[in-house]
Amino acid sequence: MAQLSQPAQNCVAQDEIQQQLVAGLLAAHAHTSPKYLYDVLGSRLFAAICELPEYYPTRTEAAIFALHAQQIAAAVGPDAILIDLGAGNCSKAARLFPSLRPKQYVAVDISVQFLEEAVSALKQQFPQIEMTCLGMDFSSELELPATLGMDRRQFFYPGSSIGNFAPLEALMFLRRIRKGIGSSDGGGLLIGVDLIKDKAILNPAYDDSLGVTAAFNLNLLHHVNRLLDADFRPKDWRHRAFYNSEQHRIEMHLEARKELTVHWQNGGLRRFGKGERIHTESSYKYTREGFVDMLQQAGFGAVQTWCDPNNWFMVCHAQVA
Ligand code: AVJ
Repeated sequence: MAQLSQPAQNCVAQDEIQQQLVAGLLAAHAHTSPKYLYDVLGSRLFAAICELPEYYPTRTEAAIFALHAQQIAAAVGPDAILIDLGAGNCSKAARLFPSLRPKQYVAVDISVQFLEEAVSALKQQFPQIEMTCLGMDFSSELELPATLGMDRRQFFYPGSSIGNFAPLEALMFLRRIRKGIGSSDGGGLLIGVDLIKDKAILNPAYDDSLGVTAAFNLNLLHHVNRLLDADFRPKDWRHRAFYNSEQHRIEMHLEARKELTVHWQNGGLRRFGKGERIHTESSYKYTREGFVDMLQQAGFGAVQTWCDPNNWFMVCHAQVA
């Protein structure tokens, strides 16, 4: 298995990560990037979220892929180079292999180690598919190796991960993908998008009765403590998640239960008043039309969409124009 690049996490990025985090914590409205939700425990808690009865996206998307497998495969076409953005354990792509029949699978994620384990297991199962691991933070730049073929590049971005971008950033991200496909025939994007719906469905999906999402959110504080040598105490904070219907997004926050001061490396500190919040994640929701429009603005051509019977979630395939 080819290992095309290594994340420069430890050498280059450490300083930048710390500076970014501190800048967010000191901002008038304190905020942190949702990527800090995913340390080892955070990734496990997210996997648990996907099993919760209230968290509909994962199983709804899986049902759409299963029910419309043949049509989706026809849209993608056989012998594609399937480029899986945020592949993780590669299970979503693997379930599509029998119907999609790609000739090559490129698994992309920040942590290349995690990928390698998953991909080497998959290789046994699908020996006819060429497999490659690529370690990179594709949210900031999408630099594919020159050795990768240009023909039939099909990007795969499931799970409504696009929801973490604000709409303008999402458009720019889609444009980068469009550029990454190039101008050759048979390229495209297969993407999962969460749809706008009643907040009676949305709110519990991000504030579940077992408190798993609360643990996922609060765990960010442990992660930040390690990254910044900070002294956040999760007990002093409460999980808040709600749908903001003006901005069409779920907002996750951590709210101080009392007045407190947090300290970190090099004498850094911030005082938080009781009820003051740190905005830890936004998860944008779209209408079918709104998202198709954005794909077109990003330079894609024909778009096909598949939804569940409740219209809670959408899978889209966009062809290059
Ligand atoms: C991984 C960004 C798709 O927004 O639904 C789940 C993350 N946060 N519960 C989402 C998440 C809280 C998830 N995404």
